Amino acid sequence: MTQDELKQAVARAALAHVVEGRIVGVGTGSTANFFIDALAGIKDRIAGAVASSESTRQRLESHGIRVFDLNEVDDLPVYIDGADEITVEMHMTKGGGGALTREKIVAAVAQKFVCIVDESKLVPVLGRFPLPVEVIPLARAYVARELVRLGGEPRLREGFVTDNGNLILDVHGLSIVDPEALEARITQIAGVVACGLFARRPADICLLGGSAGVRTLS
Ligand code: 5RP
Repeated sequence: MTQDELKQAVARAALAHVVEGRIVGVGTGSTANFFIDALAGIKDRIAGAVASSESTRQRLESHGIRVFDLNEVDDLPVYIDGADEITVEMHMTKGGGGALTREKIVAAVAQKFVCIVDESKLVPVLGRFPLPVEVIPLARAYVARELVRLGGEPRLREGFVTDNGNLILDVHGLSIVDPEALEARITQIAGVVACGLFARRPADICLLGGSAGVRTLS
């Protein structure tokens, strides 16, 4: 199976976690896009969706799925999204698509986070994938210096502006042995909007697509 076929398989499997009659939180990226396409097939059985990015909102609406503002939603049973890396502890690196801040907010509201990935994303230690950090433009150089002090090599994502009007620094060269501590440390730097580590709010379930089928880790 190709990587896209594995992503499609986990996206379809995630439909089993969608709660009938309720709103579903939807992530961003190619795997999330496959999930949106699958969700279109059951759109009459859900109340609608909350989107973690403008691109996700547009794709949901193109399928005729009603998109709610998160501020209108008190209770979100499930959030479904991909990841750039995940460990068996369910810690993740996210933000390859630059949507990490809104993803983190929707994940915080959700009762359950279902991560959908192909098996290439499962790693023993986070860090091979550069860690995205969203920063206020004014703070770019300061935050970069602080990230160097933490042992990373930050690189500005050229020509990219987030949905929130900010910049992304992709931090190379980290071996993230304590994701919770590093997430807290980076989030504390003045000018950081969000860090792509999802350790304090990890996934609850991971649907992992491999050649033998879809496995569930929890
Ligand atoms: C976007 C994300 C994505 O979930 C992550 O980049 C994985 O993307 P893909 O499903 O395309 O591999 O965090 O900000």
